[in-house]
Formats: sequence, structure tokens, C-alpha cells
Amino acid sequence: MNSDASIDAEAAFVLEKPGLNPALLPRHVAIIMDGNGRWAKKRLLNRISGHEKGADAVRTIVRTARRLGISALTLYAFSTENWQRPKAEVSGLMILLRRFLESERKTLIENDIRLNAIGQIHRLPESVRNILVPVMHETASCKAMVLTLALSYGARAEIVQMAKMIASAAKAGALDPDAVDEKTISDHLYTRDLPDPDLLIRTSGEMRLSNFLLWQMAYTEMVFTPTLWPDFDEAEFITILKTYQHRERRFGAVDPS
Ligand code: IPE
Ligand code: IPE
Ligand code: MG
Repeated sequence: MNSDASIDAEAAFVLEKPGLNPALLPRHVAIIMDGNGRWAKKRLLNRISGHEKGADAVRTIVRTARRLGISALTLYAFSTENWQRPKAEVSGLMILLRRFLESERKTLIENDIRLNAIGQIHRLPESVRNILVPVMHETASCKAMVLTLALSYGARAEIVQMAKMIASAAKAGALDPDAVDEKTISDHLYTRDLPDPDLLIRTSGEMRLSNFLLWQMAYTEMVFTPTLWPDFDEAEFITILKTYQHRERRFGAVDPS
């Protein structure tokens, strides 16, 4: 058996076992990983311990997504609004982010996962950028999955930046304002190389978008779970993927049945 065939056989096995239909797998899953603080509070621990445990859940979900054959996974790790949190929490999160990148560097390459980042990367501390940028370069040719971390990300800031770029191009005569269409907008967002998310998951019971991928989620299916992010595991991820597979996506057209 050649190696491609054996990878396909393993993928089929992995998908059939949990009862998923490979033909209906979401191409792009986006996750708002929420509830680390409440997870810690319930245990009388500090918030950083919750974030630490949350990082373990990230490792699990990245591996599961890769094994199932999901081609894009986007994780909301830090929002533009999260800079308002206490200094100690922000620096704790940045340390954990650096640790995560250091510890996953090898695994990403071995599993053919490309690391991508969206957001105001320039605002991140140098200690984070010093590892983030090399890992992105090292994994640039990885093809099996793209893992996007939303870091200092805010959809409104992204939209403002897009508007500025389009306005400058029009002012410079490089773009005809009448030619601006939906693709022009998408092409000027951080996510220009990604398909729109098919599925959004938010943990912790909150039912809001908190400034995440506002343009890109026009037709995304959404699943909200009360589970706090550190408790989110492979079994629940698979259950949610099954829920997604039972949704009927219409995109404004009539019910085909
Ligand atoms: C999500 O957990 C992680 C980040 C926003 C960085 P929270 O820290 O928001 O946890 P809760 O919502 O306070 O429980
Ligand atoms: C959204 O969670 C941001 C991330 C998960 C990184 P928040 O906890 O910051 O959102 P709100 O404040 O509950 O809306
Ligand atoms: Mg929260």
C-alpha cells in the first residue's frame, strides 16, 4: 500500500468511528474559547491557572481537528478588548502563548499544520513575536491544516483597516470605487486566504460574538455550549460536529426537499 492510500484509510477509519460523515465535515471551524476565568474561580484558583488549563484544551482540539481532516481551525485567543484586563493577567496570557508556541513547534511541523495569525500582531510583546514569526515561517509549506490564532484581534479594527486600504487605493487611482464588491472587501481582511467559517463554537454559555469575524460569519452555523473552555474535550467536539452535520444550510435559498 502506498503511503497516501494508508493515510486515506486511516482518515476514513477516524471519521467513521465517531459516526461523522466525511462528505459533510466543515472545512473551517472557528472557536471562541471562553470560560477559563470561571473554571478557575470554581476551583478557588487564580485566573492564570484557568488559562493554563485552557492551553491544554487547545492542544487536544488542534490534534483532534487535524486527525479528523478539518482543513482550517481558527481560535480566538486574545481580543483587542482583552488589553483592558489587569496587567498581570495580560502578561500571564502572553507567557502562556509563548510557551504554547515553543511546545507545539515540533508537533505542528510533524503533523503538517501551518500556523497563521490574524490581528494586530505588532501590538504583541517582542517575546511572543520572536517565536510566532519563526514558527509561521517554518510551517509555511505545511498543507494538511491551517491553524489560525486570533491575537489582539477585533473584527471592527479589521474592518476599519480594510476600509482604509480600499480608500487609499481608490485615492491613488489603483482601484475604481465602482468596482468594489464583496470579494474586494474579503480580499482586504486578515482572513483573505481562508474560506469563511462553516461552524462557530463558543464555550462557557455566552451567546455573543464579542467582535469575532463579523464579516466572515454571515452564514456560519453557530453552536453554543455551557462547557467552560478548559473542560472542552474531543468527545464534545465530535458531538458538536455531528450537530453541525444535521443542520440544513440554505444560504437564503428555498428548502431543497
Ligand atoms: C477566555 O476565558 C480566555 C480569554 C478571553 C483570553 P476568560 O478569561 O474570558 O474566562 P471568563 O469568561 O472570565 O470565565
Ligand atoms: C472573547 O471572550 C475573547 C476570547 C475568547 C479571546 P471574552 O471573555 O473576552 O468576551 P466577553 O467580554 O465575555 O464578551
Ligand atoms: Mg470570557
